[in-house]
Order: sequence, then structure tokens, then C-alpha cells
Amino acid sequence: MKVIHSITEMQQQTDQWHSEKKRISFVPTMGYLHEGHLSLIRIAKEKGDRTVVSIFVNPTQFGPKEDFEKYPRDTEGDLEKLEKESVDIAFLPTAEEMYPNGFQTTVHLSKITQGLCSITRPAHFDGVATVVLKLFNIVKPQMAVFGEKDYQQLALIRQMTFDLDLNIEIVGGETVRNSKGLALSSRNAYLTAEEETEALSLSLAIARVQTLYREGEKNTARLLSEADKLIRIHTSASIDYLAIVDENSLEPLEKVDRSARFLLAVKIGKTRLIDNGPVQL
Ligand code: PAF
Repeated sequence: MKVIHSITEMQQQTDQWHSEKKRISFVPTMGYLHEGHLSLIRIAKEKGDRTVVSIFVNPTQFGPKEDFEKYPRDTEGDLEKLEKESVDIAFLPTAEEMYPNGFQTTVHLSKITQGLCSITRPAHFDGVATVVLKLFNIVKPQMAVFGEKDYQQLALIRQMTFDLDLNIEIVGGETVRNSKGLALSSRNAYLTAEEETEALSLSLAIARVQTLYREGEKNTARLLSEADKLIRIHTSASIDYLAIVDENSLEPLEKVDRSARFLLAVKIGKTRLIDNGPVQL
């Protein structure tokens, strides 16, 4: 596995692969890799001839009071994991090269970024869209894999790819959970043992909504109220949002009359966790 830090070197490498007609698969990450990331890498490897994984804790997607400084980092451990997965290139750009002095472009999607995570993280998705477009332009992949756990992020990347004719296949990888149901996330590292138990209320709420829906409840207000009750019984958590939305447009639904997704963000102690699950017709 080659480790590349320079943007020019990365572009030269992918240009060479393009000239050899190789299909490049790409998995962008912020590191502190867990089984969820590794599952995305395995999808990428299956779908392409060459696999690039980036590790870059992108400062522009963190708000001023968020956890950029303390976001967990383990470059050495990450590189070992990537080596084991037989990734071709680990791309670790520097913040100075990604955002040189004078940088002034922001990619903004007007609709899909409304509501949900944007309520408490207003600039987050501008940061995500901008860095992902930059990474796409550097790595020039034919396909890229993103986790379904960040469902709004995945929807926005699909939309941006379509709107800007990027000609990149975007693949969503299923959320990986621990044996108790907690969705894997680098931020789980912040949880105490007690908080980890409380955090199970997110997946329990998803299961509850899915069960009630299967039993015939289609009214989203009633479904959400049951999820709300369950989370509050199980924990002292504070709910950021609970929403049932159209699975593609992310528009809120009053009734589940099409394929929908239940999305939630809950703060357990100081840690904000997100999760989601399908509510299907
Ligand atoms: O999901 C993430 O890890 C990040 O938001 C991403 C897509 C790598 C952009 O920084």
C-alpha cells in the first residue's frame, strides 16, 4: 500500500490508472477506522480495480463549538487496518494543501440540507459537500462508497453528483452495528460504559417504529411519539430530532405512504449520535 500526502502525486497516480483503463473505487473517511469503514472498503474493492481510501479530519464541517480538536485520531492504527484490507492507496492530505491561504469556494445544496442535522449543525453540510467535491476532483474515482449511517450526507452526495454531472457511481453501505445493536461510529469512543447502554435506545427506537409500522400504524406523528417515549424511558438523553422522511428527497411525511426513512439524532451525555432505519411500503 502506498501512502500519499500530496494532491499532485495523488492526481498523477489516478491519471496513470485512468490511462491503463483501471476502475478506481474511493472511500473518503475521517479516520479512526472501525468495522463500518472496513465494510465500505470491502464494497469498494469488489466494485473496482484500484481502491483509494482518504483520511482527512475536515475542519470546515465542524462548528466552532464542536469536537474538531478532540475528534479521535489514530493514523498508525488506521494505516495498519488499510494495509490488511489490501487498499492500494491511503491518501492523507494536509489541511494546508486542502485549504491554502485565500481559499474561498463553498459548495452549497439548497434543499436537501434543510432540517434534520442542519438544525443544530448549520454549516456542516457545506463543509462536507465542499471537501467531498475536492476529494472527487483529486482522486477522480468512477465509484465512491459512503455509509448509510450518515443518511442525510449520503443523500446530499447523491444529489450533488447528479446536479454537477460528476459521473461517479455513489454506493451506500449498510450500517454496521455491534452485537447489541449500537451503530458503529468513531464518536462511540466518547461514551462511558453507562452511556453506551443508554445509546442502545436509538436502535431500539428504530425497531419500535418498524414494528408499529408493520402492525399497521402509518401516521408519522404517532410513530414518532412512540419513539420519543421509548427514548425518554430508557435514558436521560436529549433528543435533537426524530423524523420520518421520504427516503430520497428527505421531505418530512405526515403519513408513510411511500418508502420512507426514520432518522434520529440524540445526545447521550455530551455525545451526539445519529442513526436511521428504513420504514418501507
Ligand atoms: O463521513 C465522513 O467521514 C465525512 O463526513 C467525509 C464524507 C469523509 C467528509 O469529510
